[in-house]
Order: sequence, then structure tokens, then C-alpha cells
Amino acid sequence: MADFVGAVDQGTTSTRFMIFDHGGNEVGRHQLEHQQILPRAGWVEHNPLEIWERTQTVVRTALNTHSLAASDLVALGVTNQRETTVVWNRRTGRPYYNAIVWQDTRTDRIAAALDRDGRGEIIRRKAGLPPATYFSGGKIQWILENVEGVRAAAERGEAIFGNTDTWLLWHLTGGTDGGVHLTDPTNASRTMLMNLETLDWDDELLSFFDIPRAMLPRIVASSDPHAYGTTASGGPFAGTVRITGDLGDQQAATVGQVCFAPGEAKNTYGTGNFMLLNTGTEIVRSESGLLTTVCYQFAGEQPVYALEGSIAVTGSAVQWLRDQLKIIRTAAQSEDLARQVDDNGGVYFVPAFSGLFAPYWRADARGAIVGLSRYNTDAHLARAALEAICYQSRDVAEAMAQDSGVAVECLKVDGGVTVNELCMQLQADILGVPVSRPVVAETTALGAAYAAGLAVGFWKDTDELRDNWNESRRWHPSWSAQQRAAGYAGWQKAVGRTLDWVD
Ligand code: G3P
Repeated sequence: MADFVGAVDQGTTSTRFMIFDHGGNEVGRHQLEHQQILPRAGWVEHNPLEIWERTQTVVRTALNTHSLAASDLVALGVTNQRETTVVWNRRTGRPYYNAIVWQDTRTDRIAAALDRDGRGEIIRRKAGLPPATYFSGGKIQWILENVEGVRAAAERGEAIFGNTDTWLLWHLTGGTDGGVHLTDPTNASRTMLMNLETLDWDDELLSFFDIPRAMLPRIVASSDPHAYGTTASGGPFAGTVRITGDLGDQQAATVGQVCFAPGEAKNTYGTGNFMLLNTGTEIVRSESGLLTTVCYQFAGEQPVYALEGSIAVTGSAVQWLRDQLKIIRTAAQSEDLARQVDDNGGVYFVPAFSGLFAPYWRADARGAIVGLSRYNTDAHLARAALEAICYQSRDVAEAMAQDSGVAVECLKVDGGVTVNELCMQLQADILGVPVSRPVVAETTALGAAYAAGLAVGFWKDTDELRDNWNESRRWHPSWSAQQRAAGYAGWQKAVGRTLDWVD
């Protein structure tokens, strides 16, 4: 038997390929960024062809660097930025339009209309989601309405839709030469088109967006030994590897953090933050602004659901300090700069660049920096940006405690931002509970590898995966209760200033 499992992780800012051994240890990786296309305020696009190009390069480079071949991989998992919408021609492989990214707010009118006439309630009940620009349904509708020729081609079944998992699966399995058109329930549960109970596209929901069923991928289990087929031998693997796992990146991170029991939760710190709480086979409806989503479905088993708190802008607020304000040269410098001061000096930064997601769901919010006095410096702003990451997570943790009746006792964290030690200390201070980071912080790729490896028996069960989880670092709260309460009150006041900004 081959020794390793591979995972393609197609994220918002970059694509990586990682290779893991049986202990869940990283054996190799390569990663490349792709362009963020910002044609106007609120619009965010990616070039799908660039993403496929980058995917091929990272796979080839990681394999070559570590002298590995397709035959060394027992299985391949795919995981992806969710909701980001690609529509392409299955005959030519050409995308009709750039990928419309999950952060893009151009569909705000579509989303608002859904809530005005009662369709919003049906979407909440059937799909578990509040109508919002975030999800794929409105983005597909926008492409059908604004790009010439797409609707007729979609009705013929020639123009097809996929999130970036589907786009890459299609290419990896041969593209125009017989590529599969598939997705899994975790990705499909982010479209506003899938019924959470049947795990199938729902005709009533499709009619709300006027989307022809023929353009949608078939939904198969997130971990499945047969459904996805194998990589095409002419592709980047230069050989056939069984593809046996596909999960949206946040659900993959939940698997990578081995949150397999109801009540277990993780928080991933990337472009945005995403906290997921496993609710088992029960569909729990949120009363507090969280999403109900599919956590994973392993072949032949009942689906497992989750409550999710999605935050649009966390790590990307630090990128904004770097790329737009240019007060730091690297994301890592945000920590050094923020350490120059002992507190935020009264400054709060609410990075509502895409409106506010959970638990507010306010498309009309816009970012604000408040509490400034002449005393403040760039160091206070850097500190306020790190605090914003943590305060937004506190908002979501409060909502989760309300919905589930159980408060988080220790928060499992992962993702790129967790290397920022100050940010993690602030998270413990702001939440008032310990924060724990595992040895393998790339839990997204790891989770996709776990799903793929479970399907082929490389790992025999989830208990074996639990044994692979080890803590690398734990942060304990150091603030007094009074300090914590005052800080949070300031944050809530600042959030209030960002609302009702757009008519
Ligand atoms: O829902 C969006 C999420 O899947 C994006 O995650 O890590 O690519 O920013 P990330």
C-alpha cells in the first residue's frame, strides 16, 4: 500500500497541495497565491483558469520536491473556499465569467428581495441559511442574468456551475475529456439551493433564483471510495490517484480538528474566521444569527450537521493594513507593531468590508475605525485589528452558547493567523477561556486528507484520527473580568457605528 494521502486546498488567497503520512504529519507541501480582482467597490473575483494553473503547479512542485509520484498516494482529498461561484462551458472548458468570490456583495439587491416577500423564510427553513450575498445562489443568478448566452447554454446543460471544488474535480478527472461534475453536501449546503433534509437540490429553492437544474453538479458523500473516480493520467499527478474526499474548507478543518462528537467546536483563522460546532445528526436551527450547515457525510452514513458562525474579514483586515494602508510590510509584522503598545488606546476597528456576517447579517454595514485621539499611533491600529479578529469571534461564541446552551470551555484554533501569538493571547483574554492550537495547524488540508483516507481504509476509523491530534500550545486568559467586560462593551458600541451605512 502507498504510504501517503494528498490534499488540494483551494483557498481564497492561495492554493496549496499537502501530503500527509499515517500519523497525520505533514510530509511535504507547496503553495501559491492567485490574484484578487477588485473591479469596483464590493466586487471580488478570481480567475478560474489561474486557479487551475496554480493547482497544477503546486501539485507538481510538491511531488517533485519530495521525490514522490502518484503511486505513493493512496488517495486524494479536495477542499475549497466555499460559495465562490464558477460557471463554465463543459464542451470547451471556458469559464463564462470570472469566479464571483464569497466576499462579493454585488448581489445585495437579490438577497434583500428574498427577505421582502417571504422567500427568505423558506430558504432559512429548507437550506438553514439567511438570504445573503455570501452564498452561491444569488451569484449564479447574477451570471445567468448578466452574461450573454449563459442562460440558453445552461438550459441545454452546456453551461455548468460549480464551486472551486467542482471546478478542480472536473479538471483533475479529465476536464473536457470526461471530467466528473460533482460536489459534496458540505459545499452544496452553502448555495441556498440544497435542502438540508434530503441533501438534494430543491426545486422550490431553484425557482427562487431561476436556476436550471441541468447546470448543477451531482451531490455525493464527502468521503466516498468510488463516486469521484481517479485523476487523469495526463494531469499534474502524471498518473492515476483515487479521489475519495471532498469537503468545504471549514468543514474539512472541523474534521482535521477531530471534532467528531456533538458539542465539539473549532475556530479557523484565515481570510475570515469560521467557528463550527458539531451538532451530530440533528439539524439545529439557530435563533442567534448562526448558519445551519452540513459538517460532513461519510459514505453510507447519516449526515452530520453543524452550527456555524462565519466572519467575513479577519486575516484580510491585517492584509488591508499591509496592502492598502501600508503600515506593515508583512502580516507577521502586525504582531511586532501591536506589541509596541499595552492596549488599544481606546481604538476599535470594525472591518465590515463585506458588510457584517454572523451573527449580524447586515449587508449595509461598512468598516469603521472609532475612538481615535491624537495620542494614537499605527501600533494602536495594528492592535485594534488583532482585537477585531478576537472580538468578532467572541460575538459568534456568544451566539453559539445561546443556541446550544453550552458555553465553550476551551477553544480549538487553527489556520494561518494562529501563528500570531499576541492574537491568540488576546483571543483567550477576550473570550475568558483557554485557547488551544494543535501541532498540525493546517487542519483544513489535513481534514480533506482524513476524509479521503477514511474512504479507502488508510485510517480505519475516527478514533484512529483522534489519536493523531496533539496540542502544540495553549494560551490562558490574563485579563480581569472587569477589563474583559469593558473591552467588549467598547467593541459592541463600535459595531453599532458601522450599521445602516449603505442605503
Ligand atoms: O466560506 C468562505 C470560506 O470557505 C473561505 O475560507 O480560508 O479560504 O478564507 P478561506
